[in-house]
Amino acid sequence: MAVLVTGGAGYIGSHMTYALLDRGEAVVVLDNLSTGFRSQVGEKAIFVQGEVADQALVASLIREHTIDAVIHFAGSIVVPESVAKPLAYYANNVVSSRALIETCVKECVKNFIFSSTSTVYAVDAKQPLRENEPTVPISPYARSKLMTEWILEDASRATDLRHIVLRYFNVAGADPKGRTGQSTPEATHLIRRAARVVLGRLPYLDVFGTDYPTPDGTGVRDYIHVVDLANAHLLALDALRGGAESVTYNCGYGKGLSVRQIIRAVEDVTGRNLPVRDGHRRPGDPPTLIADAARIKNALGWMPRHDNLAEIIRSTLEWERRMNG
Ligand code: UD1
Repeated sequence: MAVLVTGGAGYIGSHMTYALLDRGEAVVVLDNLSTGFRSQVGEKAIFVQGEVADQALVASLIREHTIDAVIHFAGSIVVPESVAKPLAYYANNVVSSRALIETCVKECVKNFIFSSTSTVYAVDAKQPLRENEPTVPISPYARSKLMTEWILEDASRATDLRHIVLRYFNVAGADPKGRTGQSTPEATHLIRRAARVVLGRLPYLDVFGTDYPTPDGTGVRDYIHVVDLANAHLLALDALRGGAESVTYNCGYGKGLSVRQIIRAVEDVTGRNLPVRDGHRRPGDPPTLIADAARIKNALGWMPRHDNLAEIIRSTLEWERRMNG
């Protein structure tokens, strides 16, 4: 029995692979290395370079390694990029996911965990966001995630497939053991970029939008440590293997922090001023995203252990230092 992790060479997928290996699971990683790194895949995992939409390849992996669960991370994730390249996002996120889901159904893989996003919720939905708030995504990225949720919902209704959708809020931080972290040089994540400014790899931090309807005018997000997110997936996996019904869970801490609050926290951790430049909003960015994660806490007993912004910032900085620029 083994778990197939798509996108397992990427930021969150590589943490997930370590979380699975650390508890003794057999793991097969499928990644096309478009943004991921082979070096970040745990040594004990079987690594295969390829596309999730390659149905012959995925079917052969499922049979050869007796895959009983798929955790599907592979996809494109940058909101403003999706506004500029919607067709690429629908191809990579929706069309490929449909093919993967079909392969799972044909090959009788019953357990499927899907990486979705807090950006599926309506901009005027009630914060903190509960899973039953209306979904009205405003970017092609968020729409592509919601479309895949719908495909899963319909496929699960019509077949033996059961799935758990995890709607991530803003994932940050790095493996406390220093084995992996966010590595894409052009990464757009706020805390990652702040770390690059601290280390002199970027001249200043752009503040994208100062006129949002938020207390200080900058975007508010709920930053969750990647290790807590990986643990949520382990619980979801156990639940599905134990026969749980298909369900959707938010993954966040329930704390909204503005861009300016993050800047101050980075300055507190480093004891240095962070050079910033105020700028315009990025296309597709919603003002505020804060999770209500009561459902996953109650149903799966999820308990965040790294709910500490200074720790998130320090681990991001430590990982950034290990990289060569
Ligand atoms: C992130 C994820 C997205 C996920 C969403 C869930 C990435 C690339 N995107 O999007 O996949 O679905 O969280 O909530 O991981 N900002 C700046 N300056 C910067 C970078 C960002 O001001 O240099 C601001 C943004 O405008 C936003 C906030 O910081 O208000 C967070 O931005 P970012 O880290 O890029 O994540 P999201 O766009 O929220």
